[in-house]
Amino acid sequence: MPIFFQQQINEYTRLGVWKIEENEAFFKGNVPLHRDVTHPHKRLQHLAGRFLLQYLFPDFPYHLIEIADTRKPFLPNEQYHFSISHCGDFAAAIVSNKNRVGVDVEIAKEKISTITNKYLNEKEFSEFKLLPKEYAETDFLKATLLWSAKESVFKWYGNGGVDFKEHILLSNQKEQEETIDCFFVKNESSLKIYYHFFEEFVLTWVYS
Ligand SMILES: CC(C)(COP(=O)(O)OP(=O)(O)OC[C@H]1O[C@@H](n2cnc3c(N)ncnc32)[C@H](O)[C@@H]1OP(=O)(O)O)[C@@H](O)C(=O)NCCC(=O)NCCS
Repeated sequence: MPIFFQQQINEYTRLGVWKIEENEAFFKGNVPLHRDVTHPHKRLQHLAGRFLLQYLFPDFPYHLIEIADTRKPFLPNEQYHFSISHCGDFAAAIVSNKNRVGVDVEIAKEKISTITNKYLNEKEFSEFKLLPKEYAETDFLKATLLWSAKESVFKWYGNGGVDFKEHILLSNQKEQEETIDCFFVKNESSLKIYYHFFEEFVLTWVYS
């Protein structure tokens, strides 16, 4: 099955998740330029992420992609803003010809609960009713969601130098709407993070 999930977010912005079932030759036949990645599965993930860019916007100019010092890929002429993520057999991309964007896909793992204090501040622990790490095994879905949300914001910003506890402040999860509010301190932006739990992973994205 090729495209796993797709959403037209607004007039300018599209989101997609690819379930990787193809071999490398398939992607290489469709993605003219890509960087060398040693590990075969990571190479496949990288190729699938790139492949999605043109899947979402057929005129996406692969040959213009550059990589910043922060390792964020970008188009210097800003014809499109885009963000890529991969995890396991999934690759996700969000592409927009207007909005700045970030996306993250994470497979939930219990061990995330042991490092929540590295990326969540005290206010977030109480806001999201997360337990301290000694008792936190059952909280790992929420812990993964919050981690993924912050990764999406990190990618949306793209300039690095972000302290997850100090600069990305999450609040007000709305379960019905599948959103979390965010204040990004570095450039004083109020953002809405969107999320969806799939059986295999959580997907978060942000655009502004
Ligand atoms: C860069 C980073 C976001 C990548 O996340 P990851 O979970 O390892 O990998 P993902 O698959 O989700 O994303 C990888 C993609 O992100 C993109 N990317 C890489 N660096 C990026 C950056 N600085 N900004 C935006 N996007 C970036 C690339 O497209 C990359 O895929 P590609 O190389 O195949 O094109 C992550 O490694 C990172 O540095 N996070 C910040 C960690 C941190 O500061 N933590 C502090 C609190 S503990």
